[in-house]
Amino acid sequence: MPRRANHSRDDLRILAALSDIGGALGGSADLRSALERMLEKLEAGRGIARGAVFLLHEDTGEIHVEAGVGIPSNGLRARYRPGEGIVGRVVQSGRPVIVPATGREPLLLDRAFQRRASGAPEASFVAVPIAPDRRATGALAVDFPVAGKHDLQVEAHFLSVVAAMVAQALRAQRAIEDERTRLLAENVNLRSELEERYDLSNIVGTSGPMRQVYEQIAQVAQTSTTVLIRGESGTGKELIAHAIHYNSPRAKQPFVKVSCAALPDTLIESELFGYERGAFTGAQARKRGRFELAHGGTLFLDEVGELNLPTQVKLLRVLQEGEFERLGGTETLKADVRLIAATNRDLEAAMAERQFREDLYYRLNVFSIFVPPLRDRKPDVMLLADHFLIKYARQHNKRIRRIATPAIDMLMAYHWPGNVRELENTIERAVLTCDGQVIHGHHLSPTLQTAESSGTTVQVSLTDAVGQYEKDLLLDVLKSARGNCARAARLLGTTERIVSYKVRKYGIEVERFRGKGAPAAPRGRSAARAALSAPARR
Ligand SMILES: Nc1ncnc2c1ncn2[C@@H]1O[C@H](COP(=O)(O)OP(=O)(O)OP(=O)(O)O)[C@@H](O)[C@H]1O
Ligand SMILES: [Mg+2]
Repeated sequence: MPRRANHSRDDLRILAALSDIGGALGGSADLRSALERMLEKLEAGRGIARGAVFLLHEDTGEIHVEAGVGIPSNGLRARYRPGEGIVGRVVQSGRPVIVPATGREPLLLDRAFQRRASGAPEASFVAVPIAPDRRATGALAVDFPVAGKHDLQVEAHFLSVVAAMVAQALRAQRAIEDERTRLLAENVNLRSELEERYDLSNIVGTSGPMRQVYEQIAQVAQTSTTVLIRGESGTGKELIAHAIHYNSPRAKQPFVKVSCAALPDTLIESELFGYERGAFTGAQARKRGRFELAHGGTLFLDEVGELNLPTQVKLLRVLQEGEFERLGGTETLKADVRLIAATNRDLEAAMAERQFREDLYYRLNVFSIFVPPLRDRKPDVMLLADHFLIKYARQHNKRIRRIATPAIDMLMAYHWPGNVRELENTIERAVLTCDGQVIHGHHLSPTLQTAESSGTTVQVSLTDAVGQYEKDLLLDVLKSARGNCARAARLLGTTERIVSYKVRKYGIEVERFRGKGAPAAPRGRSAARAALSAPARR
């Protein structure tokens, strides 16, 4: 069908203007600058004298200027209530308003456009609603100079299309913001879950040696001191590293772990310090190292005794100067990192064999925490067994209530070479194989059975076994009570006379404990908490 030439020229102009506006709205991630660009396109393409996008703030219930062109700065600060002035009416009713001559419209408040104050000539005013989800929550308003060449009905129509595009941009923006809020909330959740998981109350044990460990954690957590955690495999070194971090001022910052034994020598340096693109074959892009990732937080170097000598030199430099470079890089980076290292290796022996640098040893060994093997804290075995029983019964949905006495005896008699990790595995296995409400001896792993049948428990008479346990318990409590028999008696719920009698019976030298050892902390799982909340002593 043939069309009149000037019509199609107008259509083309409108299409070009719309395409321009679409580009402006989609061209920036920042909503305000996208709206400003859009208004500038209206200025250039449609000849508006001034214009603004107004948005309703859901919380305050006020309408404000989100973006404007051609209006003075005090106009940009204008506020309206829904229903107030023409802009307020458009937002409230969701219908467009056309004012052919601004000078003759008493409802026009002139708050945002400031025509009178700036001495602007009379104009025509058009305002259309912006409705991202059916309900209007904003308005697009513009002034046309009253030269008369504008068909205001056509312009209102055109502006409605633009307002629909703005609404679309607002929806997209809101989706991005919702996603960000969701991610943030999820992150906060994950963090608090983590904090809870590594809360001190998750460390079980009230034996003297463990109380000492709690005190040390409490002493050092608030500082930025380098900590070296030592102890056999499976004693809980990593748990303690977490506890230090989550009880430190860096708790909200990252906790980054590097397993020095798990990485081959060729990878460890690039893992720790990162590398620049092209630093070696295969380095296709820059990679940040764990030191950078841990910035502001804590870096946990697990199995630090396994580090090779060249990496030890680099690590020493970071500890001494707080600086490092990425592999193949020239830029010197600052490291604001608290270092916690752990090892089950005999570092002194490694030093003697020249496998561990002496200078690094002294840098790491500023504050060391020794986690005793489980066989040296027998009173904790039952507490830990109960703790893991509750944990795994819940995890595997079983209603197991207790551990039978013979099974307890087996747990107590065993020497636990794999420490707490082995005990944890034993209890999980028992929970899985147990089909009743009680864990019996035959639910425990074969190694414990052999220990028992090979005679570790059977060859010992009941009196001797009880006596040994009584002595261990006494030693433990006397250590906590610093050799004070009256205090030890109170902790054990017995009399001082009985304690003194047993001390003589077992030939315990009470003086050994006077003046050292940890002071008595409350019994039960809260011991760790109590140690943390009390001011550091000793
Ligand atoms: N005192 C404790 N209370 C509760 N759980 C503990 C305790 N000590 C250790 N565990 C648990 O025992 C397991 C082993 O602990 P962890 O990994 O911290 O040991 P580790 O000393 O780092 O061992 P490795 O030297 O083999 O790395 C973990 O599941 C940990 O949660
Ligand atoms: Mg570990």
